[in-house]
Amino acid sequence: MGAQVEEVVATNALTVNLHLLMVSFFRPAGRRCKILMESGAFSSDQHAVHAQLRFHGLDPADCLIEVRPRQGEATIATDDIVAAIEAAGGTLALVLWTGVQYYSGQFSTWVGSPRRAGRWGRGWASIWPMRWVTCR
Ligand SMILES: Cc1ncc(COP(=O)(O)O)c(C=O)c1O
Repeated sequence: MGAQVEEVVATNALTVNLHLLMVSFFRPAGRRCKILMESGAFSSDQHAVHAQLRFHGLDPADCLIEVRPRQGEATIATDDIVAAIEAAGGTLALVLWTGVQYYSGQFSTWVGSPRRAGRWGRGWASIWPMRWVTCR
């Protein structure tokens, strides 16, 4: 990620950090109001995302995009994540993607590239909880 060792610190509970990050970086405006995350995320992560959407007066049924594994597969294809981001286009306000999926163990490197993210324009943020990365 480009940080020096002395610039990294573990702090708070993950859910507290998620809320703090979303309060700062999830700034829905007009049609740019959607959050994209993996389907089957840890239940408290799902709850936090729902709570943030409702805090902004938004309905998770309309504003939460969940990407799931293809039929018969355990992990989510990078192409499907990219396709979901591109399909969301100007409605996307936040991508919340886990570094390691707690259930499948899928390790995600795809979204960590600012160069890649830059391709999709400005106006949205991304957050990558790294608990299980730092645990392994
Ligand atoms: C992926 C994930 N999200 C959220 C949590 C909840 O973390 P906390 O109790 O620190 O808020 C956990 C706990 O293990 C987790 O694995």
